[in-house]
Amino acid sequence: MSVKKSVSVLGLGSMGTALADALLMAGYRVTVWNRTPGRADGLVERGAHRAGSVSEAVAAGEVVIVCILDYADVGALLEQGGRTALKGRVVVNVTNGSPEEARAMAERVTALGAEYLDGGIMAVPEMIARPEAFVLYSGSCEAFETHRGVLDAFARSVYLGADPGLAPLNDLALLSGMYGMFGGFLHAAALVRSAGAPVAEFTSSLLAPWLRAMSGGLPEMAAQIDSGDYSVTGSPLAMQVSHDSIGDVSRAQGVSPELFAPLFALMKRRVADGHGAEGIAGVVELMHKHSAR
Ligand SMILES: NC(=O)c1ccc[n+]([C@@H]2O[C@H](COP(=O)([O-])OP(=O)(O)OC[C@H]3O[C@@H](n4cnc5c(N)ncnc54)[C@H](OP(=O)(O)O)[C@@H]3O)[C@@H](O)[C@H]2O)c1
Repeated sequence: MSVKKSVSVLGLGSMGTALADALLMAGYRVTVWNRTPGRADGLVERGAHRAGSVSEAVAAGEVVIVCILDYADVGALLEQGGRTALKGRVVVNVTNGSPEEARAMAERVTALGAEYLDGGIMAVPEMIARPEAFVLYSGSCEAFETHRGVLDAFARSVYLGADPGLAPLNDLALLSGMYGMFGGFLHAAALVRSAGAPVAEFTSSLLAPWLRAMSGGLPEMAAQIDSGDYSVTGSPLAMQVSHDSIGDVSRAQGVSPELFAPLFALMKRRVADGHGAEGIAGVVELMHKHSAR
């Protein structure tokens, strides 16, 4: 019978608890530590071992998962573990931070003698260990390959590369896409409600199928952004901005167009710059200049 690895979890908020539970469910030997010790009680009842200190927790786990609120506190927390305890360990930090913070943390942890992976959890705690969840990782490839079994207990594991900043960057890019969709949904919901119609029926029968159909066009837009060639389009920007129908009708209905207005302004600017015959994907050029172009 193979002996399962020992994994430690530092930080038992709602996400850390879900991660520790997933490890227990997968049969790992789990040691837990939380700043407020009482938060570990439930996990201990479910089979986890309680560590009395950070260094005890770090020493107990071949893999050390860190999941606390603020990235700024992670370094000091791990340093409490001490160089001796950290040596030879793999630290997987799934606390949300920036790419720069991740790169600095990788250097700090490596200097303490451990390997480092940064993680971005694309799930809420209830989704952990369910098929729709995935977690982005970047940093040590060897650590990812060696401990992939542990990481797969949380969700589908996606390794993005050796630069530790890749996981947080992609995490934030995915959230940007999500908030864009939420913004569109909120504007659509306000318009429908302004006409006295139920938003639930509109959403299930019309909006969700429409968004699914429109998302089918994203790969082609992405290819245009990669190539810088926005010439092929069935919906030229000049046509799309010829009238501010969404803004005008929203105002007439008593709905604020403030979520849509910034995108419309960029589309108009792109047309004014001479790109009216091109597609909407070219708007990205106003947001970020491609260095090779
Ligand atoms: N929840 C989500 O939906 C979700 C989704 C994706 C990613 N995340 C990320 O997961 C991380 C944790 O989120 P959460 O939802 O678990 O938060 P949470 O429920 O608010 O728990 C926060 C945890 O951080 C600990 N903590 C805060 N400051 C600390 C410090 N200075 N030293 C040691 N421990 C400290 C808390 O300890 P105490 O119990 O002692 O206060 C607690 O265990 C965050 O970076 C978050 O962005 C969360």
